[in-house]
Amino acid sequence: MHNLFALTAAAAGLFATASATKVPSVNVPACPRVGSISYSKSVPDLTPFPRTQVDLCYTDTSLELAFTAFDEVNYYFNASQGINDDIWEYEVMEAFLYKGTDDPQTYVELEVNPNNVTYQAFVYNPSKNRTAGAPFDHFFVSDPAADGFSATTVLNKPAKTWKSTVTVPLGIFNVDECKAKGTQWRMNFFRTITSPETYPNQTLGAWSPPNEASFHISKYFGHVNFV
Ligand SMILES: *[C@@H]1O[C@H](CO)[C@@H](O)[C@H](O)[C@H]1NC(C)=O
Ligand SMILES: *[C@@H]1O[C@H](CO)[C@@H](O)[C@H](O)[C@H]1NC(C)=O
Ligand SMILES: *[C@@H]1O[C@H](CO)[C@@H](O)[C@H](O)[C@H]1NC(C)=O
Ligand SMILES: *[C@@H]1O[C@H](CO)[C@@H](O)[C@H](O)[C@H]1NC(C)=O
Repeated sequence: MHNLFALTAAAAGLFATASATKVPSVNVPACPRVGSISYSKSVPDLTPFPRTQVDLCYTDTSLELAFTAFDEVNYYFNASQGINDDIWEYEVMEAFLYKGTDDPQTYVELEVNPNNVTYQAFVYNPSKNRTAGAPFDHFFVSDPAADGFSATTVLNKPAKTWKSTVTVPLGIFNVDECKAKGTQWRMNFFRTITSPETYPNQTLGAWSPPNEASFHISKYFGHVNFV
């Protein structure tokens, strides 16, 4: 009985290894050095997508994210939307952030649009894939500026770019002051493209593209190491 159990457990382990999702990884240094990721594939078809870059570094108290969207043509946002509104219905760049190494159920969803409006919420997604009928909830950060979030956004239409630099307080992840070095994270990065002609349809891009048109499948989150 004991041996049979050991054999079954070993076989299960082998299967889990063989079926594990391959995800990218990046090392992130202390600012002002940065770790950079770049992506140019759509979700879920992996067809060409406008190049998108994210430069990451950490300070004593914050994660600094510099998002750059290349080959932008629409700069499409809804000017009547403010903080934590559904800006993801239009064009945004996004980071999903979790401190830890497992596939998370709860993570931070951070977004910014070309109008410099941000969205910041904790997501509760216990199925880890937003399966139909499972809970799927958002807990919004109600006073992001007071909590230490901020953003700066610059549009450069001749160059077809927009860039947002976003500050995220590390305390919301229980990283105490000066304790970021050595922490390990799971993250994914996304961008949405739409236009007045195609809205509400969107083209989606990701650093680690899930196999469905959904961003909320956490086994696809890449590995991020603060070094
Ligand atoms: C912008 O958002 C407002 C408020 O949600 C909505 O009433 C309006 O229809 C939206 N405009 C466009 C162009 O989508
Ligand atoms: C989604 O997750 C649930 C368990 O959390 C699992 O049963 C289901 O097979 C998953 N669906 C897909 C499409 O991976
Ligand atoms: C963007 O929003 C931030 C607050 O998050 C503000 O400090 C900044 O001045 C705004 N404007 C631009 C152009 O980035
Ligand atoms: C959105 O996509 C659907 C399905 O492909 C299509 O039928 C519809 O015409 C599209 N709408 C726009 C505004 O492009």
